[in-house]
Amino acid sequence: MWSKNKIKEYLKENTSENRYIHILGVVETSQSLADRYGADRDKAALAAYIHDAAKHLPGDKLIKLIEDKGFKLTSEDKAMPQLLHGPAGAIIAEELMGIKDREVLDAARYHTTGKENMNLLEKIVYIADLIEPSRDYPGVKHLRELALKDIDKALLQAFDNTIKHIIDRGLLIHSDTIKSRNYIIVNKK
Ligand SMILES: [Fe+2]
Ligand SMILES: [Fe+2]
Repeated sequence: MWSKNKIKEYLKENTSENRYIHILGVVETSQSLADRYGADRDKAALAAYIHDAAKHLPGDKLIKLIEDKGFKLTSEDKAMPQLLHGPAGAIIAEELMGIKDREVLDAARYHTTGKENMNLLEKIVYIADLIEPSRDYPGVKHLRELALKDIDKALLQAFDNTIKHIIDRGLLIHSDTIKSRNYIIVNKK
C-alpha cells in the first residue's frame, strides 16, 4: 500500500489547489466525526484522502475505468457520469494505491450518491465531504451543528439539501440518493 505521503503527492499532482484544500478539510472533519461517534479515525482519514481521487477525470474516462473493472453501469449512471468519481476513486485507490480495506474503499465509493443502510464510516465521509471547513453555502452551518449532534439527522438533512439542489438545477437525481434518503426515514428510531 502507498504511504500517506505518496497518496498526498498523487492528489497534489492530479487535483487543483482548491480541491486539495477540500480533501485536507474532509480528512480533518472525518477524523473529528470518527472521534465523536467512535469510528476508526485512521480509516476515516484514509477514506477521506482517497474520496476524490478520480475527481479530475472526465466522464468518459470514469465510465471506462469502472466498466474495465467489470462493473455494470446503468443508463442512469451514464447520464450523470460525474457521480462516478466515487466508485472510480475507490478503484484507483485499490488498484493503483494498493488499499485493500473494503470499509475504506466503500466509504469513498458511496460518497457521491449515498446508499441504503450506510455504515458509520460511509456516513462520516459523506457528511464530512459536505461540511469540511472550506465549504460555504446556505445551510452549511446548520448541517455542521447537526453532524455533531446526530449523524443520521445530518445525513437526512444532507440528502434533502442535495435533492432540492438537483431539482432546482433540473438535473437527474440518482435513484441511490432517493433510496438512501427513504431508508433513513423508514428506519428512523
Ligand atoms: Fe467527491
Ligand atoms: Fe469531496
